[in-house]
Amino acid sequence: MAILKIARMGHPVLAQKAQMVEDPTAPEIRRLVRDMIETMIDANGAGLAAPQVHVPLRLAVFQAPEDRAEQRLSEAERYDQTAPLTVIINPEIEIAGPEMEGGWEGCLSIPGMRGFVERPAHVRYRGVDHEMRPIARTAKGFHARVLQHELDHLDGILYPQRMRDLTKLIFESEAKHWVPAAEAEE
Ligand code: NI
Repeated sequence: MAILKIARMGHPVLAQKAQMVEDPTAPEIRRLVRDMIETMIDANGAGLAAPQVHVPLRLAVFQAPEDRAEQRLSEAERYDQTAPLTVIINPEIEIAGPEMEGGWEGCLSIPGMRGFVERPAHVRYRGVDHEMRPIARTAKGFHARVLQHELDHLDGILYPQRMRDLTKLIFESEAKHWVPAAEAEE
């Protein structure tokens, strides 16, 4: 296991479209997945995409734990708004409704910053994990946000490119002025 170096905004690998993973079960993919999970946890991020560790492949790891979700969720809502530690390879995403939702995001490739980003509130996605197990889920809330943020990385898009109001691109240390801002890590 190893903690990988994280590319920061400005590195070309973050701006390119990542390639499909030919064999999700290959030993080098398994090793990459292990190292990415260790790196994400070490950096206290909610997600990490392979381009962020200088590997331009369509692979990401993320989690949407219950403490990130809104309070008082029904059982069905909790199912959509939370996700266990997930490895997703060659994902496809589909917007599942017209509603947009704003939220504060951060990114391990843009350390110390937060930005307010509006994204589709409800998405569906599918892909496989590193054991070729199929993944097919609907996502709302923080789950939808972290998923879309990670998948953007696979297309060379960083969250400031999704922002409509750059006055809401702020330093984390100023987030207290934007209560209840800046809960999202990555
Ligand atoms: Ni990010």
